Amino acid sequence: MNIKIIDIKTIPTDSEGQLSFFEANKDFDFDIKRIYYITEVAKGIKRGAHAHKKLKQLLWCPIGSIKIYLENIWEKEEIILDSPAKGLVIEESLWRDMLWMKNDSVLCVAASDYYDADDYIRDYDEYLRYIESNV
Ligand code: TYD
Repeated sequence: MNIKIIDIKTIPTDSEGQLSFFEANKDFDFDIKRIYYITEVAKGIKRGAHAHKKLKQLLWCPIGSIKIYLENIWEKEEIILDSPAKGLVIEESLWRDMLWMKNDSVLCVAASDYYDADDYIRDYDEYLRYIESNV
Protein backbone atom coordinates (compact mmCIF):
# COMPACT_ATOMS: atom_id res chain seq x y z
CA MET A 1 0.00 0.00 0.00
CA ASN A 2 1.40 3.36 -1.00
CA ILE A 3 1.27 5.14 2.36
CA LYS A 4 4.00 6.64 4.49
CA ILE A 5 4.18 7.58 8.14
CA ILE A 6 6.32 10.67 8.56
CA ASP A 7 7.87 12.28 11.61
CA ILE A 8 6.64 15.85 11.69
CA LYS A 9 9.48 17.90 13.15
CA THR A 10 8.45 19.13 16.56
CA ILE A 11 10.42 21.63 18.60
CA PRO A 12 9.74 21.54 22.34
CA THR A 13 10.35 24.30 24.84
CA ASP A 14 10.68 23.97 28.62
CA SER A 15 7.48 25.81 29.52
CA GLU A 16 5.99 27.31 26.36
CA GLY A 17 4.67 24.26 24.57
CA GLN A 18 5.95 22.95 21.27
CA LEU A 19 5.92 23.89 17.59
CA SER A 20 5.52 21.41 14.74
CA PHE A 21 6.13 22.00 11.04
CA PHE A 22 6.51 20.28 7.69
CA GLU A 23 7.52 21.46 4.25
CA ALA A 24 5.94 20.44 0.95
CA ASN A 25 8.28 18.67 -1.47
CA LYS A 26 10.74 18.06 1.36
CA ASP A 27 8.81 16.00 3.90
CA PHE A 28 6.51 14.56 1.18
CA ASP A 29 6.42 14.69 -2.61
CA PHE A 30 3.60 17.04 -3.60
CA ASP A 31 2.66 20.71 -3.56
CA ILE A 32 -0.09 21.78 -1.16
CA LYS A 33 -3.07 23.53 -2.78
CA ARG A 34 -5.57 23.15 0.03
CA ILE A 35 -5.67 22.67 3.79
CA TYR A 36 -8.77 21.63 5.70
CA TYR A 37 -9.50 20.39 9.19
CA ILE A 38 -12.34 18.63 10.95
CA THR A 39 -13.40 19.71 14.44
CA GLU A 40 -16.15 19.21 17.04
CA VAL A 41 -16.51 15.48 16.39
CA ALA A 42 -17.60 13.25 19.30
CA LYS A 43 -15.79 10.06 20.29
CA GLY A 44 -17.15 7.04 18.37
CA ILE A 45 -18.14 8.97 15.26
CA LYS A 46 -16.91 7.66 11.91
CA ARG A 47 -16.39 9.86 8.87
CA GLY A 48 -14.91 9.17 5.47
CA ALA A 49 -16.36 6.23 3.53
CA HIS A 50 -14.85 7.42 0.28
CA ALA A 51 -11.76 7.25 -1.90
CA HIS A 52 -10.06 9.84 -4.04
CA LYS A 53 -9.02 9.13 -7.60
CA LYS A 54 -6.00 11.43 -7.87
CA LEU A 55 -5.71 13.48 -4.68
CA LYS A 56 -2.63 13.10 -2.47
CA GLN A 57 -2.94 14.00 1.18
CA LEU A 58 -1.02 14.42 4.40
CA LEU A 59 -3.20 13.74 7.44
CA TRP A 60 -2.29 14.57 11.01
CA CYS A 61 -4.05 14.90 14.33
CA PRO A 62 -2.47 17.60 16.53
CA ILE A 63 -5.03 17.11 19.32
CA GLY A 64 -6.63 13.82 20.36
CA SER A 65 -6.64 10.43 18.69
CA ILE A 66 -8.17 9.27 15.39
CA LYS A 67 -7.96 5.81 13.85
CA ILE A 68 -7.63 5.76 10.07
CA TYR A 69 -8.81 2.62 8.24
CA LEU A 70 -7.36 2.27 4.75
CA GLU A 71 -7.92 -0.36 2.12
CA ASN A 72 -7.49 -1.25 -1.51
CA ILE A 73 -8.50 -4.56 -3.05
CA TRP A 74 -5.37 -6.32 -1.81
CA GLU A 75 -4.61 -4.90 1.65
CA LYS A 76 -6.06 -3.25 4.73
CA GLU A 77 -4.23 -1.03 7.22
CA GLU A 78 -5.17 0.75 10.44
CA ILE A 79 -3.16 3.73 11.58
CA ILE A 80 -3.71 5.73 14.74
CA LEU A 81 -2.92 9.41 14.52
CA ASP A 82 -2.44 10.68 18.05
CA SER A 83 0.46 13.09 18.03
CA PRO A 84 1.37 16.45 16.50
CA ALA A 85 4.62 14.74 15.45
CA LYS A 86 3.01 11.99 13.35
CA GLY A 87 1.78 12.37 9.78
CA LEU A 88 0.19 9.94 7.35
CA VAL A 89 0.87 10.47 3.64
CA ILE A 90 -1.62 8.87 1.23
CA GLU A 91 -0.56 8.94 -2.40
CA GLU A 92 -2.81 6.37 -4.04
CA SER A 93 -6.51 5.78 -4.39
CA LEU A 94 -7.49 4.14 -1.09
CA TRP A 95 -10.86 3.62 0.49
CA ARG A 96 -10.78 5.30 3.92
CA ASP A 97 -12.76 5.64 7.11
CA MET A 98 -11.79 7.69 10.12
CA LEU A 99 -12.90 6.83 13.66
CA TRP A 100 -12.76 9.47 16.40
CA MET A 101 -11.20 7.76 19.44
CA LYS A 102 -11.48 10.83 21.71
CA ASN A 103 -13.94 13.71 21.85
CA ASP A 104 -12.90 16.79 19.91
CA SER A 105 -9.89 15.21 18.25
CA VAL A 106 -8.84 17.43 15.35
CA LEU A 107 -8.11 15.93 11.94
CA CYS A 108 -6.00 18.15 9.67
CA VAL A 109 -5.33 17.49 6.01
CA ALA A 110 -2.92 19.08 3.53
CA ALA A 111 -4.04 18.17 0.02
CA SER A 112 -2.36 18.24 -3.38
CA ASP A 113 -5.31 19.83 -5.17
CA TYR A 114 -8.34 22.09 -4.88
CA TYR A 115 -11.69 20.64 -3.86
CA ASP A 116 -13.21 18.66 -6.71
CA ALA A 117 -16.34 16.59 -6.08
CA ASP A 118 -15.52 14.56 -9.23
CA ASP A 119 -12.33 13.26 -7.60
CA TYR A 120 -14.40 11.47 -4.93
CA ILE A 121 -15.67 7.90 -5.15
CA ARG A 122 -18.35 7.49 -2.49
CA ASP A 123 -19.71 4.11 -3.54
CA TYR A 124 -17.62 1.12 -2.41
CA ASP A 125 -18.50 -1.11 -5.38
CA GLU A 126 -17.68 1.73 -7.75
CA TYR A 127 -14.32 2.08 -5.96
CA LEU A 128 -13.55 -1.63 -6.50
CA ARG A 129 -14.42 -1.29 -10.20
CA TYR A 130 -12.26 1.84 -10.43
CA ILE A 131 -9.24 0.08 -8.89
CA GLU A 132 -9.67 -2.99 -11.06
CA SER A 133 -9.78 -0.93 -14.24
CA ASN A 134 -6.81 1.25 -13.21
CA VAL A 135 -4.21 -1.38 -12.25
P1 TYD B 1 -16.03 14.98 3.08
O1 TYD B 1 -14.73 14.98 2.34
O2 TYD B 1 -17.10 14.04 2.62
O3 TYD B 1 -15.75 14.75 4.63
P2 TYD B 1 -15.54 13.38 5.47
O4 TYD B 1 -14.96 12.36 4.54
O5 TYD B 1 -14.64 13.76 6.57
O6 TYD B 1 -16.86 12.96 6.00
O7 TYD B 1 -16.56 16.47 3.07
C1 TYD B 1 -17.70 16.86 3.80
C2 TYD B 1 -18.43 17.95 3.03
O8 TYD B 1 -17.59 19.09 2.86
C3 TYD B 1 -18.85 17.51 1.63
O9 TYD B 1 -20.11 18.09 1.37
C4 TYD B 1 -17.82 18.15 0.72
C5 TYD B 1 -17.43 19.40 1.47
N1 TYD B 1 -16.01 19.81 1.26
C6 TYD B 1 -15.75 20.98 0.55
O10 TYD B 1 -16.67 21.69 0.08
N2 TYD B 1 -14.45 21.36 0.38
C7 TYD B 1 -13.41 20.63 0.88
O11 TYD B 1 -12.22 21.02 0.70
C8 TYD B 1 -13.70 19.41 1.58
C9 TYD B 1 -12.60 18.55 2.14
C10 TYD B 1 -15.02 19.05 1.75
